[in-house]
Amino acid sequence: MAGASTPGVAGAYTPGTDRFGPFSRFAGALRADCFVLADARVAALHPPVARLLRHRDSLAIRGGEGSKSLAVLERVLTRARALSRDGTFVCIGGGSIGDLGTVAAHLLKRGVRLVHVPTTLLAAVDSSLGGKGALNLAGAKNLAGVFHFADEVWICTDFFATLSEAQHRDGRIEAFKMAVTLSPDRSGVWRHQDPPLSRLIREARALKAAVCARDPYERLGQREVLNFGHTLGHTLEALNAPAISHGAAVRLGIACALDVGRALGATPEDLARDVEARIEALGAAKVPHLRRDLARALSPHPTEAMFELFRVDKKARAGEIRMVLLQSWGRANVRPVPTTLLRRLTRAWREGRRP
Ligand SMILES: NC(=O)c1ccc[n+]([C@@H]2O[C@H](COP(=O)([O-])OP(=O)(O)OC[C@H]3O[C@@H](n4cnc5c(N)ncnc54)[C@H](O)[C@@H]3O)[C@@H](O)[C@H]2O)c1
Ligand SMILES: [Zn+2]
Repeated sequence: MAGASTPGVAGAYTPGTDRFGPFSRFAGALRADCFVLADARVAALHPPVARLLRHRDSLAIRGGEGSKSLAVLERVLTRARALSRDGTFVCIGGGSIGDLGTVAAHLLKRGVRLVHVPTTLLAAVDSSLGGKGALNLAGAKNLAGVFHFADEVWICTDFFATLSEAQHRDGRIEAFKMAVTLSPDRSGVWRHQDPPLSRLIREARALKAAVCARDPYERLGQREVLNFGHTLGHTLEALNAPAISHGAAVRLGIACALDVGRALGATPEDLARDVEARIEALGAAKVPHLRRDLARALSPHPTEAMFELFRVDKKARAGEIRMVLLQSWGRANVRPVPTTLLRRLTRAWREGRRP
């Protein structure tokens, strides 16, 4: 995994190709030597997917956090065992199916070609790009994972018609995260209003693709900023699954990261207020309830359960908690965060207060 590009090794970093078009065009172009892993709900809602599954070696499973487990991985690998080493593993679903399928494609025959067909907005703007796949273990999010880059991603916007409003918001939150951490230019525009769907997808993907090209294996500290909102976000998601979606947890996690940034003097107060107002607007209720939502997600759980999950966060080093903090529109970095500060802020978060 050393070089940025290792030609000939399936899953090693290459920029990959984005294709936009109807699902029928993808299905028509799909070669015979493939295995298709699909979200069962997507197959039920979209007959062309069900048809494809009948005509290919395939498995449909229920999407969501429960699918990111070793037990489900074993089912997938067993079912896909006949795929040849130069065959193609196809994932049709949201981020959960994509994460599971990425791990499976990495392990199967020591790595096979991977193609994603994201069916949620979140997967289209974020998880289908960048090569990460992971499983949840011991109650912790994404504890065991791999880098395995897809050769192609097919964006078929037909799928987004069956997403709920909340699922659309989840995708917009991850897209906003991309702009706010990576691009002074785009965040300057998006802070006022999201672009229309197809532009949002293309721009978010372009931002993520550029940072992945510079730091594909997250070794240089550049790509790490995409974890903005994810230290608390993953903790809240793990503690409350399946009641809180990934996108909803990241929204709350961003509010926490802004509070930490303000307390450490890393995030200017006016910037924190503006970003908080934007993520407030990406919430479910017409009346803003960001702080109440955060208190509800934290208060049923002992504070120690939260700190236990911080200790296994991927950004932690030698027991030190590290978080992505926002410095200005489009600029963020990773900094150590004292446990005493997090304990003080947690008290306010649990009580629904802005610290
Ligand atoms: N690998 C990465 O870089 C990366 C980045 C961001 C998020 N993620 C992961 O992505 C996961 C979240 O993914 P997600 O938000 O896409 O949801 P998901 O895959 O968990 O799916 C959520 C629900 O949406 C349903 N669904 C999927 N497509 C649908 C459609 N077109 N219409 C109706 N329902 C549909 C699924 O059946 C499921 O019930 C988390 O596990 C997160 O950790 C990974
Ligand atoms: Zn995320």
